[in-house]
Amino acid sequence: MRSVPFFKPSIGEEEISRVSEVLKSGWLTRGSLTEEFEARCKEFLGANGCIALSSATAGLHLSLLALGVGEGDEVITTALTHVATVQAILYVGARPVFADIDPVTMNISPSDVLSKISPKTKVILPVHFAGHPCEMDELEEIASSHGIYIVEDAAHAFGASYKGKMIGGKGFSSITVFSFYPNKPITTGEGGLVCGGEDIIDKIRLLSHHGVVYPIKERRWMYSAVELGYKYNFTDIQAAIGLAQLSKAKDLHAKRERWFKLYNELFKDNEALIRPEPRGYVYSSYYIYPLRLNLDALKCSRDEFAIALEEEGVGVSIHYSPPVHLHPYYRVKLGVGEGSLPTTERVSESELTLPLYPEMSDEEFYFVVDRVLKLVNRWKR
Ligand SMILES: Cc1ncc(COP(=O)(O)O)c(C=O)c1O
Repeated sequence: MRSVPFFKPSIGEEEISRVSEVLKSGWLTRGSLTEEFEARCKEFLGANGCIALSSATAGLHLSLLALGVGEGDEVITTALTHVATVQAILYVGARPVFADIDPVTMNISPSDVLSKISPKTKVILPVHFAGHPCEMDELEEIASSHGIYIVEDAAHAFGASYKGKMIGGKGFSSITVFSFYPNKPITTGEGGLVCGGEDIIDKIRLLSHHGVVYPIKERRWMYSAVELGYKYNFTDIQAAIGLAQLSKAKDLHAKRERWFKLYNELFKDNEALIRPEPRGYVYSSYYIYPLRLNLDALKCSRDEFAIALEEEGVGVSIHYSPPVHLHPYYRVKLGVGEGSLPTTERVSESELTLPLYPEMSDEEFYFVVDRVLKLVNRWKR
C-alpha cells in the first residue's frame, strides 16, 4: 500500500441505479422524489418539518432571512468553522460576533456566548464541530432567557444526538441545517436540509424558489412572485442519491464510529497526540477524526507534520486554519484580529484531521496509524 485518500464517498449500485431511473424519467429538477426524500428525512430525524435545498450554505442564509435577521442585528457564532457559516450572516447584512470554544469538544462555549450577548443579538449560531453536538441545554437556556433564536449549523452532524434527542428533531425549538456535501455523514453530491417548525419551513420553501407561489398546482405557468426569492432548490437527481444513502445511514454511521474509536484506542497514552473525546451524553456523527498535536511535545509545527504525512501517502485535512476571523477578507471586514479568541486560535494551530470514511479497509486504516506514529517518533522531544 502506497497511499490512503482523505475521503472516499460510499456510493454503490443503489445510488447508481436510482439516479439512472431519474435520468430516464423525464423529470430532473425538484419533484416527487424530492418530496419523498424530505418525508424520509423528517421521519429519520423526528423533525417537525424539513426542506431540502441546494446546499447548507443556502439553508443557513434562508434560515436567517426567514427569521427576519438583517441590518443592525448581531449573530453569535464560532470562528472554528467553514467560512460558509459566517458568510450566511453577512449575506443578510447582520454582524457576526465570535465566541470562543471549549478546547475538548471544539464547540462554542456557552459561557463565552453569554458574555457576548448585547441588545443587538438576534441569533446564536452554534456549529456541531466534527458532528459532536454543542451544549444545547445551556444554549437553549441562554436563548430563551434573552428572547433570541438558535440556528444550528449541523453541516457535520446528520445522525448525531444530544442527551437522547436527535439533532434536527422535535426535541429542540431551533432551526437546524445539515449539509450533504460529498464527505458528509450522508451525501447527495451537493445539497442541504433545513429542519424546523412548519411555518418557518414554509417561508424557506417560498424563498428557495424565486419567492413565487403556484395557486393551481397543475398550472405551473400561472405563478405569482410575492417575495424576493432565490434559486436554491434541490433536484430529484440529488434526491435519488439521498434516498439510497438514507437507507444505509445507520450502517455508515456505525462504520465511522468504529474507525474513530479505534484511532482513539491506538493513540491512547501518546503524549504527543490529543485525542477527540466525545462527552458521554452525546452521540456524535463521527463525521471526521479531528486529532490535535501536542506541540509542546513535538519539535515541529502542525503544518510540517501535515505536509510530511501527505508525503508519506496519507491524505489529510485541517478543520479549520486559519479560523474565520483571521482570513484576509474577514480581518478587514470585521476588524477582529489575533489574540481575540485564544482557545480557537490555539486549537486551530494544532488540529489535524486524519482519513476516516465508512469503507476504509483495515490495511488503509493501519497504514495511516503507522505513518502518524512514525512521524511522532521522528519529531518527539
Ligand atoms: C461547518 C460547516 N458549515 C457549513 C458548510 C457549508 O455546507 P455546504 O457545502 O453544503 O454549503 C460546511 C461545509 O463543509 C461546513 O463544514
